[in-house]
Amino acid sequence: MLAVAILAAGKGTRMKSKLPKVLHLLGSKSLVEKAIDSCNLVQPDRQLVIIGYEGKQIENALNYLPQVEFVEQTEQLGTGHAIQQLIPHLDDFSGDLLVLNGDVPLLRPETVQKMVTIHQENNNSATLLTANLPNPQGYGRVFCDENNFVTAIIEDRDCNATQKQNKRINAGVYCFNWQKLREVLPKLSTNNDQQEYYLTEVFDYLDQVMALDVDDYSEINGINDRRQLSAAYEILQQRIKDAWMMAGVTIIDPHSVTIDESVKLGIDVIIEPQTHLRGNTTIASGCKIGPNCLIENSQLGENINVLYSVIIDSKISSNSKIGPYAHLRGGAQLGENCRVGNFVEIKKSTIGHKTNIAHLSYIGDATLGNQVNVGAGTITANYDGVKKHPTIIGHRTKTGSNSVFVAPVTIGEDVTVAAGSVITHDVPNNSLAIAREKQRIIENWKMKSK
Ligand code: UD1
Ligand code: MG
Repeated sequence: MLAVAILAAGKGTRMKSKLPKVLHLLGSKSLVEKAIDSCNLVQPDRQLVIIGYEGKQIENALNYLPQVEFVEQTEQLGTGHAIQQLIPHLDDFSGDLLVLNGDVPLLRPETVQKMVTIHQENNNSATLLTANLPNPQGYGRVFCDENNFVTAIIEDRDCNATQKQNKRINAGVYCFNWQKLREVLPKLSTNNDQQEYYLTEVFDYLDQVMALDVDDYSEINGINDRRQLSAAYEILQQRIKDAWMMAGVTIIDPHSVTIDESVKLGIDVIIEPQTHLRGNTTIASGCKIGPNCLIENSQLGENINVLYSVIIDSKISSNSKIGPYAHLRGGAQLGENCRVGNFVEIKKSTIGHKTNIAHLSYIGDATLGNQVNVGAGTITANYDGVKKHPTIIGHRTKTGSNSVFVAPVTIGEDVTVAAGSVITHDVPNNSLAIAREKQRIIENWKMKSK
């Protein structure tokens, strides 16, 4: 059996924030969610998050994860004290306990898996991640015997000058044999510079503790302030973009592009500069996105071009062209081979295949058929000040420039609507609808001069 405990009770004073530190976002996920994700490959039987400062907020943020148990540490008396709070919760648990810091978001699931495997294969009482840092300042230093077994961990502030020379640091990621850890937890003292209960003191009492160096020490970066948060975001972005480029995606000017981890891309997608892909977004092969696009929680079929546009919570079928300057949102759904162009907003509407909405339109709460041509400046007036109403436009209908559809209204198939019409009544199939004042000419007319 394997349990994981994530330390998340601290305030994170240096973030200077109303939000507890572990709820700060790194892309689409909070630091604590990233810590939970790093256990994906080891699949723990129990997941415990130790909360304290603003614990309710953390509980609320994670309540979509039913497997997570919350353990309260009412006073933050140190990392050892935090782990002591687990004792009543893991009373009948037998197996290993993985301990992760909630502020270490870049740890790879593969690294955690490797550590757990080595721990179990060697039957260690504990295994911990270490790294040799060029600048180890601030970290606990790890001391080992001639067989690479850990003898002690001494916090930076408790080290003497010689001990500070040791560059091997404690990453704060551990795997413990829970029975052995539980036996020694009551022995912890506050005999240190901060007068806290340090978890690292358990290594004074445990035998057979193995240190495992990480290959890539960017993984163990802890987040203590917003500069470190932004540095970690950059590392994460680099990983994501490198992985997509290796998988057959072209990214022009990667520095100006951001891609959330949750995004999925097909081969031969081309991402142009200043493009941001977020949330649950999927982009199929052959699409060309950007420059200057924001796409969030949207699904794009193959060979779509998007230029200078914002697409949120929408779905677009293959071979359509979007932009420049289009805004699709709130459940817009587009068929194949559509064209949505300059200054067009589409909200919560379903658009059929080969339909064009090319210039200056608002289409909201509407259903448009196939091969509809929406003239420049066409507006669906969907809101009466209290409620939203639907507009339906049938196949092959053409709306004239500057026509307004006052919803609820239904326009049939193969209809032509004259330019400048304000349509307030339903229109049958195969008809022409004109709803505007007839043009009058007054001949030989001149403005009166003063
Ligand atoms: C800790 C380690 C240090 C290691 C470093 C790696 C100890 C004593 N030291 O130091 O050896 O090099 O991590 O980043 O463990 N927390 C609680 N309750 C508490 C105190 C802390 O939940 O009472 C949580 C914090 O919210 C944080 C984590 O534990 O997520 C680590 O605490 P922090 O005070 O940052 O420890 P470090 O000084 O970084
Ligand atoms: Mg820390």
